[in-house]
Amino acid sequence: MPRNQSKLEAAREFERAQAAKIPASERPLFHLTPMVGWMNDPNGFCYYNGEYHLFYQYNPYSTVWGPMHWGHAVTTDLLHWTWQPAALAPDTAADAGGCFSGTAVETPDGQLLLMYTGVQPASTGHAELQAQCVAIGNGVDFRKVSQNPVLDASALPAGYSAVDFRDPKIWRENDKYYCAAGNRHETRQGSILLFESPDALHWTFVTELDSSDNEYGRMWECPDFFPLDGKQLLLVSPQEMQANRDGEFHAGYGTIALLGHWDAGTRTFTREQVQPIDHGLDFYAPQTTLAPDGRRIMVGWMVNWETCGSEPRVHPWFGRMSLPRELHLRHGRLYQTPVRELETLWKKETALSGVTVYGSQQFEGVSGRHVDMTVTVDVDASPACRRFELRFAGSDRFFTEVRCNLTRGELVFDRSRSGSRRDIPHTRHITATPHHGKLTLRLVLDGESAELFINDGERALSALLETPPDAQDITFRSDGPVKLDILHHTLG
Ligand code: FRU
Repeated sequence: MPRNQSKLEAAREFERAQAAKIPASERPLFHLTPMVGWMNDPNGFCYYNGEYHLFYQYNPYSTVWGPMHWGHAVTTDLLHWTWQPAALAPDTAADAGGCFSGTAVETPDGQLLLMYTGVQPASTGHAELQAQCVAIGNGVDFRKVSQNPVLDASALPAGYSAVDFRDPKIWRENDKYYCAAGNRHETRQGSILLFESPDALHWTFVTELDSSDNEYGRMWECPDFFPLDGKQLLLVSPQEMQANRDGEFHAGYGTIALLGHWDAGTRTFTREQVQPIDHGLDFYAPQTTLAPDGRRIMVGWMVNWETCGSEPRVHPWFGRMSLPRELHLRHGRLYQTPVRELETLWKKETALSGVTVYGSQQFEGVSGRHVDMTVTVDVDASPACRRFELRFAGSDRFFTEVRCNLTRGELVFDRSRSGSRRDIPHTRHITATPHHGKLTLRLVLDGESAELFINDGERALSALLETPPDAQDITFRSDGPVKLDILHHTLG
């Protein structure tokens, strides 16, 4: 076996043996988890040869972050995933410190090209370096090119970092390859740099697309850059954000969408607006792909560096991907909705129209931990209700709660009584104003995960729940009569 494949072969053998011991009942129903061990960022999300491919930051050997490999899974419906053998291991001089995040693109001759960050550890005679590498293959096996790293700090103008230089997003356009990568400028901090190449092997610097300028966090990680409904979007995951005065952005690791205009002639991105992508406690490093039918689909790591911890884990795997989401621009904002394929999992339906809740109430058929439920609050028809609450994953001991202040247009997500034993953030306060007199809450539960979509996807919030599976209650509460429509499906 060639020397540079031995680490990969070892990882493949290990994951095969370990994954066989993990029963399906120890996994979510439709959220992707690592074959075994640790998962962080989605990588290389693409549609290739009739399937979606999703790679991920992966340490098969432990449920905490470690030597970064790329794990791999495929799906045709974005819900049922089949693991593939690990795709990359940190087994060359260019990536001995880890194969960090990156993306994938199909080459003109039909191969799949992975572009990722190779970390060269400080032990190799210099400070730690991050540079971009390429591996090309058939969708299962990938050969790292001998030119690696193909894009290193020598391509950077003065002021940019050779250590914080990572997470290339690669695409092809007009017979050229382009790549946008995260960097940390010495004064402007987080920045996204654009490069171009005739062959994906020789790269030149084009421009800085945008930067934090110390307003939206420090290092900017995991960029994505694409057109959507008439605008150009730059998605980034900033480290060390500060909460702003109106509470729109929370402190720590955030996810933000920069909406703007791209002038391909002058190669200028003009930012017009910034908004959070997901307000949740457990969401980071999202990336997108284009579906064959033209939908822009996004998936994120459904954990966050602030919440992941390092204590003993419940399962022999740790980390999961969010439910893939369709992206749209509406009313000048980024909207996200669960991929429509989710409806293929709908089982038992309970539809309640125009019910009035006052006090605390549960409904026959409205419960469970594998659920897709939309609650429409008729705010205009409920003038005496100021406070509406939705409790779920409930039992006599535990619950998670969404509290809506209907007069102030505020929503609090609160999992502090969900069973967590950790002193990590458990609440988020966000804006949630009714549209045409109605507020809609769509909640998707898959065992230990909750994803909330407000007003048809105007805002999204993802969170993990350490709640025992038998906590299945869903309870509606109000301080005055509130009129609701409830559409509830169990998922299976
Ligand atoms: C984001 C990140 C990336 C990096 C990867 C390492 O979560 O820090 O910037 O490539 O994780 O696993």
